[in-house]
Amino acid sequence: MNAKPNSLAARDIEYLMHPHTNLQLHREVGPNLVDHGGGVWITDGDGNELLDAMSGLWCASLGYSSERLARAAFEQMQKLSYGHLYRHQSNEPAIELAEKLLEIAPSSMSKVHFQNSGSEANDVAIKLIWYYHNAIGKPEKRKIISRIGAYHGSSVATVSLTGKPDMHARFNLPLDGFLHTDCAYYFREGEPGESEEDYATRLAENLDRLIEDEGPETVAAFFAEPVLGSAGAISPPATYFEKVQAVLKKHEVLFVVDEVITGFGRTGDMWGSETFALQPDMMTCAKALSAAALPISAVMISDHVYEALVTQSEELGSYAHGHTYAGHPVSAAVALEVQKIYEEMDVVSVARRLGTVLEQTLEQFADHPMVGDIDRTGLMAGMELVADREKRAPFADELKVPMRVREAAEDNGLIIKSIGSRIAFAPAFVTSEDELGELGRRLGKALDTVYAEVGGA
Ligand SMILES: Cc1ncc(COP(=O)(O)O)c(C=O)c1O
Repeated sequence: MNAKPNSLAARDIEYLMHPHTNLQLHREVGPNLVDHGGGVWITDGDGNELLDAMSGLWCASLGYSSERLARAAFEQMQKLSYGHLYRHQSNEPAIELAEKLLEIAPSSMSKVHFQNSGSEANDVAIKLIWYYHNAIGKPEKRKIISRIGAYHGSSVATVSLTGKPDMHARFNLPLDGFLHTDCAYYFREGEPGESEEDYATRLAENLDRLIEDEGPETVAAFFAEPVLGSAGAISPPATYFEKVQAVLKKHEVLFVVDEVITGFGRTGDMWGSETFALQPDMMTCAKALSAAALPISAVMISDHVYEALVTQSEELGSYAHGHTYAGHPVSAAVALEVQKIYEEMDVVSVARRLGTVLEQTLEQFADHPMVGDIDRTGLMAGMELVADREKRAPFADELKVPMRVREAAEDNGLIIKSIGSRIAFAPAFVTSEDELGELGRRLGKALDTVYAEVGGA
């Protein structure tokens, strides 16, 4: 990279540290600058327009730079630019947003606890699980189980939940007491001849055995994303959650559903919990809550958990937890406006309709020699890239095929995600059918380019 002195690129290299980035490589290649965005398109520093089929990081669900959301933020900033929720203080947008969330959440949810990011929401859920078990006189119930490949955040505790060894390496993580069970990835881990249902039974039995081996009296909670997002949009195998929930109930293990990606229509229902008939004790959400226009997240808590928290906080004199910006009135006002937009557009029907079009778009590649599987739930999808379709064999890691497809897509003005042996898609709810057609054309070119380089490898 020969960034001109004082160019934005040179100043980026000089001053910024980037997450999930090879820091040495960044010095050489510099940043991909995004200058502006509108609708589902972003424009880079050289004026190239890219169709964002990932809504940023699964979050810009209404596209970029909405004037209506800007107005909502501006008006709230003029009225009350900051407020917190400590020691009984409150503000109208936070109250209204909590009320709205409980109106659309499963009926077992009774309180909303605002935070600022998905990681914070899951972090607080972990604290609440521990606080709850102390409240009900089961302090030894502390261990938390999540799944290999799952992503629940980057903070010390939530990255311990996250089942990605590369995010633990050399950080001295995960913390003790965070356990990982199977990923629920039928395409890669189902055995030859094993049905999805049998695979789900095997995984539920493994979970049951893990809890038994650890001692059920020490296991507090299980976290899961309804669809594994950052693992590549992997949908659960048939009957999986039904069987897993039976195991959790048997051992009195709380179920926390991480709806950070799946909440607000993404799965073709308002919640992934509805799509897969989940009965969470707590739910976390973020991202599409505010369509990513401002940071805000929430933990939703069921009544039976909440009541125990109330009793304990009275005993202790306070529920001694808080974040300065949790319940920020400007973020809440924007999120409230987003919820109004979802209602007006009927976001669930939009996700279902566009999801069907996305599937048709991807299905054109069903016979492509590199495509092993297409997996869609609602308006999110993953595509398995394989060297051998018969054997479902992935490409050798060192060929980095999914990453090359992502880069080739970017060269063709399309943003997708790559992870493991998959590429993934999560277009915004404001994507037009023509834009999904464009997604297909650009993806086709990317697949063909990479296949010409590695075909038969
Ligand atoms: C399912 C899930 N949970 C939690 C998080 C963490 O959210 P944040 O990056 O806002 O901390 C993410 C982020 O991608 C996520 O996908």
